[in-house]
Amino acid sequence: MNEPLVLGIETSCDETGIGIVRGRTLLSNTIASSMDEHARYGGVVPEVAARAHLEALQPAIDAALAEAGVGLDELDAVAVTSGPGLAGALMVGVGAAKGLAVSIDKPLYAVNHLVGHIAADILTGGSAPLEYPTIALLVSGGHTSLLHVRDLTTDVELLGETMDDAAGEAFDKVARLLSLPYPGGPEIDRAAADGDPEAIRFPRGLSRASDLAKHRYDFSFSGLKTAVARWVERCEAEGVEVPVADVAASFREAVVDVLVTKALAACADLGVPRLLLGGGVIANRRLREVALRRAAEAGVTVRIPPLSLCTDNGAMIAALASELISSGRPPSRLTFGADSTLPV
Ligand code: KG4
Ligand code: ZN
Repeated sequence: MNEPLVLGIETSCDETGIGIVRGRTLLSNTIASSMDEHARYGGVVPEVAARAHLEALQPAIDAALAEAGVGLDELDAVAVTSGPGLAGALMVGVGAAKGLAVSIDKPLYAVNHLVGHIAADILTGGSAPLEYPTIALLVSGGHTSLLHVRDLTTDVELLGETMDDAAGEAFDKVARLLSLPYPGGPEIDRAAADGDPEAIRFPRGLSRASDLAKHRYDFSFSGLKTAVARWVERCEAEGVEVPVADVAASFREAVVDVLVTKALAACADLGVPRLLLGGGVIANRRLREVALRRAAEAGVTVRIPPLSLCTDNGAMIAALASELISSGRPPSRLTFGADSTLPV
């Protein structure tokens, strides 16, 4: 099969993503998010996300097909995220994908969400193809992972990940401490614009020499979140107004510093002069700025797909399956299930 026409389904968190690709060409990328429904809880509620996927899936599939201008009968394969992610949310996508594949009698590919984020890069068309090896830093509300990609379809190694909160989750929780709305990332980014990133020296998780021995490429944001909480409490106890802009800027600086430092350490240690960024937190202006500057100083080239392909989406899932098909990988057996802790 030369240029397979693949429909990808992504439901691992709060985005119902349906994407259609032909080979490495993006035809449609439809996303329905239940983020608004989670806003009043200050974070993603798994049951709410699963129910929202159930409601959003069929309209999203119809919209994606219409946008791509293709019919169901033209598809060569269906792809779905089988993990990692929220169990109930994943199950909705996996069930729908199996039903669709069986009904049109086409092969089904179960793929890994994190590897899907890396595959987003191949849809960026026009630019040179992803070169191997590359280091990938994936930061979102659900994951913070550092990967060594030697080959997208056969050789992706997880170097490290967060030991507690994901980076986006830390933004969301700290925003709440500062009485900013959900999702907190964009709010903190905005508030930080008027603040001094050096005003408060917040801790950089797992960055001490004693931590680095065991957790060189791992992340931890819970200590940072607690440090912000203490700072806010102290202001309140002393009856002084919380300097929101300075706290936001200093917090953002601590997150950005640790993400960029560890990603570039992996590049240096492994002799890999390429870094791919992905996940919704890449929307952070300071993160992109610092990553680009420090990578240039270190002789590392940085790739950042457009934001619509960085946040969770179905196109990246379809793209990964398309690569697997082209590499000769047989389809998944229909007995696979959702796996919330699926390894890469
Ligand atoms: O990839 P994504 O859209 O999906 C999920 O993880 O579900 O990422 C969403 C996360 C949220 O935690 C949000 O606060 C964070 O990305 N985020 C940001 C920014 N924009 C979104 N974090 C920091 N700075 C931003 N500008
Ligand atoms: Zn993701």
